[in-house]
Amino acid sequence: MRGLETLNHTTSEEEAKLQYEYMEKAKAYVAAKAKEKGRPLTFCVNTFGCQMNARDSEKLVGILETIGYTEAEDEHADFVIYNTCTVRENANNKVYGRLGYLSNYKKKNPDMVIALCGCMMQEPTVVEKIRKSYRFVNLVFGTHNIYKFAELVCRCLESDSQIIDVWKDTDKIVEDLPVKRKFSFKSGVNIMFGCNNFCSYCIVPYVRGRERSREPKDIIREIEGLVQDGVCEVMLLGQNVNSYGKNLENPVTFAQLLREVNKIEGLKRIRFMTSHPKDLSDELIEAMKDCDKVCGHLHLPLQSGSSRILKKMNRHYDKEQYLTLVDKIRKAIPDIALTTDIIVGFPGETEEDFEETMDVVKRVQYDSAFTFIYSKRTGTPAATMEDQIPEEVIKDRFDRLLKEVQDISSHKSQLLEGKTVPVLAEEVNEHDSSLITGRLENNSVVHFPGTEDMIGNIYQVTLEECKGFYYLGKVADHA
Ligand code: SAH
Ligand code: SF4
Ligand code: F3S
Repeated sequence: MRGLETLNHTTSEEEAKLQYEYMEKAKAYVAAKAKEKGRPLTFCVNTFGCQMNARDSEKLVGILETIGYTEAEDEHADFVIYNTCTVRENANNKVYGRLGYLSNYKKKNPDMVIALCGCMMQEPTVVEKIRKSYRFVNLVFGTHNIYKFAELVCRCLESDSQIIDVWKDTDKIVEDLPVKRKFSFKSGVNIMFGCNNFCSYCIVPYVRGRERSREPKDIIREIEGLVQDGVCEVMLLGQNVNSYGKNLENPVTFAQLLREVNKIEGLKRIRFMTSHPKDLSDELIEAMKDCDKVCGHLHLPLQSGSSRILKKMNRHYDKEQYLTLVDKIRKAIPDIALTTDIIVGFPGETEEDFEETMDVVKRVQYDSAFTFIYSKRTGTPAATMEDQIPEEVIKDRFDRLLKEVQDISSHKSQLLEGKTVPVLAEEVNEHDSSLITGRLENNSVVHFPGTEDMIGNIYQVTLEECKGFYYLGKVADHA
């Protein structure tokens, strides 16, 4: 791994310029190869993990398309890249499994480039394993130097040896590189990178580095550009958006940023992820209430309902504080949808601790919840804690929790039946072109009769029938 000092000697502007030069160079290589093969070269980007990775992949695609690759249907492509996640062990196993297949594809197409990047590559043991046992992988890089992708592709096309370039950290944020969005009408927007919270189970701070916020003016400029390009919904992304702006030269709060984004003309909806309960301020609740474009939805990870476990998790709130916060939010914004993340089987979790989690779930009545089985991540404090919970015990608790969460969730969706709510028309229904598919503020899907020209607008839609995971509806009138 390389350190900071040797590498970050260019300014962000110089770096962007340099990367565009590499794109020109790579373009020539790709064009020559395509000519030789008598067909365009293709790529496939396979993304694991969270919205951060999804957004990073859009940056990878932006560069691959700029340099002349065209998107393939599947992994039978000339350039295959896996953008990996390592938050839980099973995420890692998936990648090793897939690599087996890729080596077979490569036997048929020896020119194929196989690249790996993302959070998993920030772990030295993973890189060692790739170096030793996966020699057919051409390129490995991490989360901190993703902005150098064009340069790394050049190096890769110039050399037959395995290239590994992973940095420990970076303080740099490079703006204005190409991005190719997956959806025309909505986009993620990074407002910050990294995390400083060190929840004791979590590997993210180790693989994503310290918290760095983007300048508000850069964020606003990016969103204005997106709106001009047809985007009507943005999701502001950060591991803990509530601590946005603290490390800027001129500190700004997340609530202030939200108010600025809300002013952007043409933008229809604002979402954000993730809010850490410990930092959720009254100022933010006020801003959410005041800003008409901010969706009535908050993802508020609980992790555990037991104050004892929360302390061991280093979450800095307890059960009562969490419940008080939920009350305060619901009082200010009564119809808000609440969703959460919960971990089952953290070291030392007793049946009583688990019951506390069940109690919070019942009391809060989440619209939906992501439930995870605790996964031991080497290098995190929880990995060496005593009292790791046996698999059968975890499985039993997990099943009980999942059932509770699903029962509440379906009850909550039923409650909306018959109601008229704002819906963003997103696309023509895949199976029936007389229907438009749209989303509620709480992210649920509704299908309703409509035409293509409605896409990108918000309509008041009556939810006539709840079909479990989606609704069938009808436009009431134009919002
Ligand atoms: N920054 C966000 C999300 C980070 S990862 C937050 O603080 O909420 C997404 C979710 O993965 C976490 O909320 C947590 O529930 C889960 N998670 C993280 N580490 C985990 C681990 N070691 N085992 C199981 N689940 C984990
Ligand atoms: Fe992980 Fe906690 Fe940071 Fe979220 S806030 S990324 S759970 S350390
Ligand atoms: Fe996974 Fe990295 Fe996101 S570890 S959850 S892809 S920040």
